[in-house]
Amino acid sequence: MSVMLKNLTLAGAAILALGTGAAFAAGEAHTHDVAFSFEGPFGKFDQMQLQRGLQVYTEVCSSCHGLKFVPIRTLADEGGPHLPEEQVRLYAKNFEVWDTQLRDFRTAEITDHYPPSQLPNAPDLSLMAKARAGFHGPYGTGLSQLFNGIGGPEHIVSVLTGYTGETKEQAGATFYENHAFAGGWIAMPPPLAGEDVDFRDGSPNDLESEAQDVAAFLMWAAEPKMMARKEAGLTAVLFLTVLTVLLYLTNKRLWMPIKKKAKQA
Ligand code: HEC
Repeated sequence: MSVMLKNLTLAGAAILALGTGAAFAAGEAHTHDVAFSFEGPFGKFDQMQLQRGLQVYTEVCSSCHGLKFVPIRTLADEGGPHLPEEQVRLYAKNFEVWDTQLRDFRTAEITDHYPPSQLPNAPDLSLMAKARAGFHGPYGTGLSQLFNGIGGPEHIVSVLTGYTGETKEQAGATFYENHAFAGGWIAMPPPLAGEDVDFRDGSPNDLESEAQDVAAFLMWAAEPKMMARKEAGLTAVLFLTVLTVLLYLTNKRLWMPIKKKAKQA
């Protein structure tokens, strides 16, 4: 990450030096790094953080954004927010979904997915944490992704905390200046200001904490099986390492008599 920051700084300096500072000012998106618990080959989702993020999503974001690819029942899954099933059953009743058979809206059940976005121009957030890469790592080696993730949740945190307070009217719509959003102006009014929700576990609810919690939740929503994937990857690497050693020794053993003969000859 630091290498990339350096690159960004250098690029910025170069642009300014060339006297085309406008390009830089026009809204190079800034993403700040966050050390999430689920990063790195051994990273795991923090169950309590996912529960807090779920609360932020439910109380604040869901009035505009949908999560239409996320089945509500998965909130009870191990490795996710892992809420008691009974609680999830009650939780589902907060939402209304379109029933194709009734041809009408009805109260959601635990077997339903989250509804789609309520506000037509607010994107669905199911896959947002994977759709937006905040940083790409130095020289495309993939090493940064392995240790820091692709930066999707960081992008979300940066957007939620990147407002400057400036607004402008354009074509009858209001835009809000935001340093983390490409172009510098976003149509989403600042959804969080800090102290928007009261966390049941008494965790801090300042702006940055709320933003990190909801970003972690959205990462889980986009990739609920991340922990299983990492475990499988690790097992595969260990297995291949053992296999390599065994094959090397077998190879030595098989060739030993032949090499001995060759030496004698
Ligand atoms: C009042 C409605 C509203 C609320 C509440 C709201 N958003 Fe948005 N959000 C929008 C709209 C509209 C856009 C599209 C902005 C654009 O494309 O300029 C958006 C865009 C986004 C994006 C996409 C940014 C990108 O890179 O394209 C993310 C991420 C996001 N919102 C997250 C959240 C989160 C997390 C919350 C809750 C803390 C939230 N939003 C609450 C209306 C809302």
